[in-house]
Amino acid sequence: MENTVHEKILVLDFGVPYGQLVARKVRELKVYCEVLPYDADTEEIMAVDCIGVICVGGNKDYGFKVPVLDLDENWTEENIKTFLYDVVKCKGTWTEGAYTAMMINAIKNQVGDNEIVLGLSGGVDSSVCAALIHEAVGDKLTCIFVNTGLMRKNEPQEVERVFSTRGVKLVMIDAEKRFLDLLKGVDDPEKKRKIIGAEFIKVFEEEAKKYKNAKFLAQGTIYPDIIESGNKHAETIKSHHNVGGLPEHLNLELCEPVKYLFKDEVRKVGEELGLPHSMVWRHPFPGPGLGVRCVGALCKERLDILREADAIFVEEIRNAGLYDDIWQAFAQLLPIKSVGARDGKRTYNETCVLRAIHSKDAMTAKPVKIPFELLEKVAGRILNEVEGINRVLFDISPKPPATIEWE
Ligand code: XMP
Repeated sequence: MENTVHEKILVLDFGVPYGQLVARKVRELKVYCEVLPYDADTEEIMAVDCIGVICVGGNKDYGFKVPVLDLDENWTEENIKTFLYDVVKCKGTWTEGAYTAMMINAIKNQVGDNEIVLGLSGGVDSSVCAALIHEAVGDKLTCIFVNTGLMRKNEPQEVERVFSTRGVKLVMIDAEKRFLDLLKGVDDPEKKRKIIGAEFIKVFEEEAKKYKNAKFLAQGTIYPDIIESGNKHAETIKSHHNVGGLPEHLNLELCEPVKYLFKDEVRKVGEELGLPHSMVWRHPFPGPGLGVRCVGALCKERLDILREADAIFVEEIRNAGLYDDIWQAFAQLLPIKSVGARDGKRTYNETCVLRAIHSKDAMTAKPVKIPFELLEKVAGRILNEVEGINRVLFDISPKPPATIEWE
């Protein structure tokens, strides 16, 4: 089984925007590949057990003993195929199915009879990770779900339903009050992110420490997280907290079964494992959750209002059959109140902004052209059904210069 997946190509990325795209293409052509930045240690580069190398956007003489392909920005679908199949003579046996079977075996070998804990967020990556590990070691896995109070409508209930049905041991921690107390009056986006990230680690650690026999910590790190963190040239625009953080104080060994997969590959593994379509194809959701979608200072009341508006928008997008073609569709609350009238009385209420974007990798994005009738319907429902909102706007800003999230 090892061999079927480990027909490996090394992609050396010379810091160009299409490095990851080339890696994706190689995998679409059913050959497994890994990416390293060109300025990684030469020893690390030479230690990769590969049968061919693709240098993307530059070259340097490393003295490889396997075939090398140089690609500049004029590369095609065809260059790569010829290299893989005519020059390197790959067999093309990489599939997500082979990966799933291999990982289940690898997890069994790594974890053995030891206990393992996992922070389950309900997002695609940690859910697939949980399902994979549960297949491999069953009851040795305990998933910890921290309800930060910043989740979407019914999210904790849905996670509990899906994983309890599968027989996964799941501990739900209600930490809403802790998070909201700390966030009281904080309106600076970076401060909010730092508070949420730090408190998440604290709550998770407090719980994880109770599992005295646990030797492993599972994380749903995926490949783009690693590539981006390893890239010395990537600028931090917002402090994400996907890679690192958790393991430091816990003295646990890491188990990261999806760390070599791109997002769409993680999804295919999720389908392979029978996770529900709605979970596997759920739009990305930022780690700090609604904390960064309640623009300005947040409180439970604002969060509840946002949850309702967001649920209505997403429900209508689903009903219109648009959900799976959209990268992200969500609602945010702005720190602006405006005047309205309800039942003949003056009101002074929140502003909700709807955002729906198309993207391939979240690095760039453009607004979805949602039919105006649908927008009107969503706005009508939000204004009627959610008390506390007086105005609904639609955001048509592309990324760049705007980011996807407002904070
Ligand atoms: P931006 O707003 O930077 O978002 O254009 C790019 C993508 O990343 C998501 N996002 C986050 N994901 N932790 C995450 O795990 C975060 O702190 C975070 N902030 C933004 C965002 O939803 C979009 O998909």
